[in-house]
Amino acid sequence: MNNQKDLAILVGVDYYKHEQLLTLQDSLSELALLANTAHIQIAGTLTQKMDSPNPNTFIGSGKVEELKSLVEETTANLVIFDDELLPRHQRELEEILGNNTLVLDRTGLILDIFALHARTSEGYLQVKLAQYEYRLPRLTRAWTHLARQAGGSSGRTGGVGGVGLRGPGETQLEVDRREIRKNISNLKKELEKVSEHRSRYREQRRKSHIPIVALVGYTNAGKSTLLNQLAGSDVYVADQLFATLDPTTRKVSLSNGQAILLTDTVGFIQKLPTQLVAAFRATLEEISEADLLLHVVDVTHPNAIVQAKSVLQTLEEINAGNIPVITALNKIDLLIDPKAIEISLKNIPNALPISAIDNIGLGELLKAIETTLISTFNKIRVLLPYKEGNLISIFHEFGHVEAVEHTENGTLIEGRIPAEYKDKYLPFLLGRTRK
Ligand code: GTP
Repeated sequence: MNNQKDLAILVGVDYYKHEQLLTLQDSLSELALLANTAHIQIAGTLTQKMDSPNPNTFIGSGKVEELKSLVEETTANLVIFDDELLPRHQRELEEILGNNTLVLDRTGLILDIFALHARTSEGYLQVKLAQYEYRLPRLTRAWTHLARQAGGSSGRTGGVGGVGLRGPGETQLEVDRREIRKNISNLKKELEKVSEHRSRYREQRRKSHIPIVALVGYTNAGKSTLLNQLAGSDVYVADQLFATLDPTTRKVSLSNGQAILLTDTVGFIQKLPTQLVAAFRATLEEISEADLLLHVVDVTHPNAIVQAKSVLQTLEEINAGNIPVITALNKIDLLIDPKAIEISLKNIPNALPISAIDNIGLGELLKAIETTLISTFNKIRVLLPYKEGNLISIFHEFGHVEAVEHTENGTLIEGRIPAEYKDKYLPFLLGRTRK
């Protein structure tokens, strides 16, 4: 990061017409938390009530004047809007604010945090690509100063990989644009290669027929902590937003001896544009291919329910809305009144109270994973001739045996078997298969 501390004014808009997931104040508090995660100090906040954004400056002209005075007064070098700005808004505002004041929006800020937290090469490539794509239509002269400061670090303002994005004049701007387009195309090629490698790896994993359980949840809910507890591993945990960017997978054994692959994914947040989520293909693929989702909710957060809704909404958007979900209401060790959780438990189906940190409720959680996974299997009743010993072992290893009877003609098994094995048992089916 830059040595010089960034100082920002936050700007939020309250719309008369449409309903927001969070109140303006709560959304701005979340934005402040995001800014802190990106090591930015807050110098002030400005809000406006309006029907719809101004086409040129997003906020009204009077508010822009107010913003300009506040920037001058506080010597802030950044202005961060809580809503997504069009490139035109950003250009216009930077022109008016002058003095190398940089205008960012929530997306730009989140990208910055992603850049800080990417740890694997794929995560890093994805962030670089998303940053370049974000920056390209927004390239103005006002961006170089901070881009240079940011250098090869977080890449705030798009200085990804140390590329100074702002030049002294229009010609330099054109050069920069060409450079960015070239980088975008190279990054896409590189990512294609990494992604092929990943899909080969996933194919292998699929062949192993171990069910995949993906941890999803609002940022900071405790997903990594839970993965560490359940897998006895050491995944990076931090009281920061978006500490986890790249999917991490661990093998965990259930009480019936069945193994599952538990995979951590990027945290969600309200107002996270789907196009930005889409940049994190690796994580999304993990989610959409999971057999079960473990939704971790920080039940002590004042906006826990809204956060949970926002996660479910994003899951719908990425076509993962049909995967069964278990909800873990986390951090109950912090609850002063444990009864407070009862309302949440009543309102959320398939929910369990846990404390990932203090290892409370995790046995019950694993049991619920086991039961829910089994309920997704196909119920079958088969008579397996004794020479089909292999099918008998597969049933015991990957399925759920409810009854066994040794008859003259073979072993009669009743139970549930994962869908991918069903075909093997078709010739030996007795009666109808439900589900
Ligand atoms: P992202 O990477 O932002 O998506 O976060 P995450 O959901 O992976 O959360 P993480 O596990 O990094 O935990 C966030 C913070 O919550 C850390 O400071 C944890 O120590 C804390 N935390 C997690 N689980 C618990 C819990 O059960 N009780 C308490 N008191 N704190 C917890």
